Amino acid sequence: MPNIENPTSRTLADLGVTQADQLSSLFTEVRSRFDAEISRAHDEPAWNITKVMWLGRKSGVLAQITDNWLRPASPELKRAVGAGLNELRAQVESQIEARRQAIESGSDEAALAHDRIDLSLPGVARPIGSHHLIRQVFQEIEDIFFSIGFSVVEGPEIETPYYNFEALNIPEFHPVRDDMDTFYLDLPKNAPTPLLLRTHTSPMQIRTMEKRQPPVRVIVPGKVYRRDNPDATHSFIFHQVEGLAVDNDITFCDFTGTIEYFVKQFFGPGVKTRFRPSYFPFTEPSVEFDVSCIFCGGSGTAAGGGTCSKCKGAGWIELFGAGMVDPAVYGFVNYDAKRVSGFAFGMGIDRLAMLKYGIDDIQVFFQNDVRFLRQFS
Ligand code: DAH
Repeated sequence: MPNIENPTSRTLADLGVTQADQLSSLFTEVRSRFDAEISRAHDEPAWNITKVMWLGRKSGVLAQITDNWLRPASPELKRAVGAGLNELRAQVESQIEARRQAIESGSDEAALAHDRIDLSLPGVARPIGSHHLIRQVFQEIEDIFFSIGFSVVEGPEIETPYYNFEALNIPEFHPVRDDMDTFYLDLPKNAPTPLLLRTHTSPMQIRTMEKRQPPVRVIVPGKVYRRDNPDATHSFIFHQVEGLAVDNDITFCDFTGTIEYFVKQFFGPGVKTRFRPSYFPFTEPSVEFDVSCIFCGGSGTAAGGGTCSKCKGAGWIELFGAGMVDPAVYGFVNYDAKRVSGFAFGMGIDRLAMLKYGIDDIQVFFQNDVRFLRQFS
């Protein structure tokens, strides 16, 4: 087998060279290989090896060229090959000699540079990143729920309408679908089902109950998408943590106790909480859960007098939606609605992070300016 890497081990005929003008690129290639090798010879042993490899009588590269290119060359090519070889030999010999002198006199630049490394200099600082504030808040929330027996499940960000809506008791043409401006994927006409970017983490309630029998106690952190125009409180991508607890004997008291426990762990024991009636198709009863304003302590008055700008004087801040799982939902997952009960909640993480860390523009979470992110690492 001819060695394709190394043209000097093949004849010119093998290489397809039939005319003198094809030779110069061949010689240039050999020459640049030599240049690279000699430049790496920084001490005598390396120099010796390079010299033998190139000038060695029997199998040095120049000997190979003589044997493989020059001797068998056609009469028309012989002169040109001979001339190229002589020129190459002169270059190789003179550079090998020059390199020998450089090594002997200790003036070889690369070798000197090697000796000149100052080990006492400080190294190159490569800053290590930190967790994004959203990731940190996810973790804070997960830790609180872990401590009371919940585990984490995650699910797809691309969903079918069945999981995102129907199985959550939101049939097609139900007006609450209008609350969520949805991104549908642009699929071919014959696609078996439409697909959409999930508008909430609630579909994972269904996926979890399809797979597991009660007791179920899970939280679902993740990204969700809505066709909202970006402003200080809206983003077309944001983060939620869904929660679901289902068992044979879960009561409204378990529900309120769990949520209150979470909020006091998250914001501190001093916050007051309240539930307001609300509506979600997949919970019954449904609530909106509020905390006393963390900025004005629930007074509605700003520190320097005047109305608190965060709660607009109300003293309360709306945190998230929740409720007891609507029995209709159990019908979609083959749970016996007469025997099981449970609660669910869905909170916006960006909003919780903004409240806890005093951030007034949701966009900063997505701009990823390290000067912002570093403040929380
Ligand atoms: N999925 C709702 C939303 O994104 C939030 C929600 C409300 C989730 C009540 C729940 C719940 O699990 O019980 O607007």
